[in-house]
Amino acid sequence: MRFSGYRCSVCGREYEESEELYLCPNDQGCLDVVLDNAVILKTTTPEQLVDPDREPSQWRYLPLLPVDDPGARGTPLRRVGWTPLYSLPVLRERCGLTALWLKDEGTNPTASLKDRASSLVAVRAGQIGAETLVTASTGNAGAALAGMAAALQLQAVVFAPRSAPVAKLAQMLAYGARVILVEGTYDQASALSREVSQSLGWYCRNTGYNPFTAEGKKTAAFEIWEAVRQGQIELAPGNSLTIFVSVGDGNIISGLHKGFRDLSDLGWLDFQFRIFGVQAEGSAAVARAFRSGGERIEAVQASTVADSICVDMPADGLRALRAVRQSGGSYITVQDEQIVQAVAELGRVGVFAEPAAAAAYAGCLLAKATGQIAAEEPVLVFSTGSGLKDVTVVQRAVPQAPVIEPTLEAVKRLLKL
Ligand SMILES: Cc1ncc(COP(=O)(O)O)c(C=O)c1O
Ligand SMILES: [Zn+2]
Repeated sequence: MRFSGYRCSVCGREYEESEELYLCPNDQGCLDVVLDNAVILKTTTPEQLVDPDREPSQWRYLPLLPVDDPGARGTPLRRVGWTPLYSLPVLRERCGLTALWLKDEGTNPTASLKDRASSLVAVRAGQIGAETLVTASTGNAGAALAGMAAALQLQAVVFAPRSAPVAKLAQMLAYGARVILVEGTYDQASALSREVSQSLGWYCRNTGYNPFTAEGKKTAAFEIWEAVRQGQIELAPGNSLTIFVSVGDGNIISGLHKGFRDLSDLGWLDFQFRIFGVQAEGSAAVARAFRSGGERIEAVQASTVADSICVDMPADGLRALRAVRQSGGSYITVQDEQIVQAVAELGRVGVFAEPAAAAAYAGCLLAKATGQIAAEEPVLVFSTGSGLKDVTVVQRAVPQAPVIEPTLEAVKRLLKL
């Protein structure tokens, strides 16, 4: 069995795989899943993992994941991951980066990167016999959980802030989830869902709480590793890859870091990387702690147009802080207007990103403008969710469509012909 247990990211204590844990019982620290590398090395090689005949989804990396084969063939659950990597020549030209790639997570079955985590948690739930899953969500994690639970015919319950975008709520409901809107913030919905989980014995997917979410998100790092190996991302020997990702709770970034660490521990990682976390100016608890030089994360009163990264107290903040520090990256904060502009700019090259997703690109532009990255530096930007998730914000960045009478005359008048 390659899943051997958990290790606390704060005190380092280890726990057996047989214990069903969320946070460290000693200090409430987030738990890292521990894999038995000896087992993996005996049964798997990097060449096997990158075999082009393998399944084009995150499940191609099953030998590095802490669950058994999920089954569910022929369902959207098997389509999670293996997202496209665009080189976007026009965008490269526009932003002055000659080696830029964009990984579009909006192509996942429920249209955000959260499918990677929710699918893994749903599979874990099935394998430990849980029938009801619960999560708090700003929208995407809940939609992903609802979709993945539906694929496995499990029940999902989602607590979301009342202000969550309607498209995300509609998605959850369409997937058959029980959606409960909380009159309060995401952080309050989060605390409530944990209480409900404990009281009713439902399996809790909460970000920065359930150790398996990061295990799903780490598959995005595996895909980057594979793209470098196969030469899709061109990295000269000794060159490092700079990765931009937007940060709310901090679980995507800590998951990515875990993926690279797993590969490194196996002796399979043959390039350097550094990670830049991007937060909205109005929701920047981790960025502030980063700038303080310490590890103390203090809650903020979060407010940003990018609802998915609007978090008072990031549940996975410490690992998110360390991931960036250890990789030699940095934290960048962007204004809401820069986020909205980034949505429009990505749209013009054919990528429709939701505000929280476009924030990473806005951060990349700022890093370039402030000299934190060089023009020829290899850069990968994550677009973590589809623009269809929240169309109201986009309307601020684009002109309104005119309404005309259905006549040729009216068209000519409009076009001043
Ligand atoms: C589209 C999108 N981008 C980024 C994030 C931030 O991820 P995390 O909260 O793990 O930092 C989220 C989280 O909901 C998201 O939905
Ligand atoms: Zn601990």
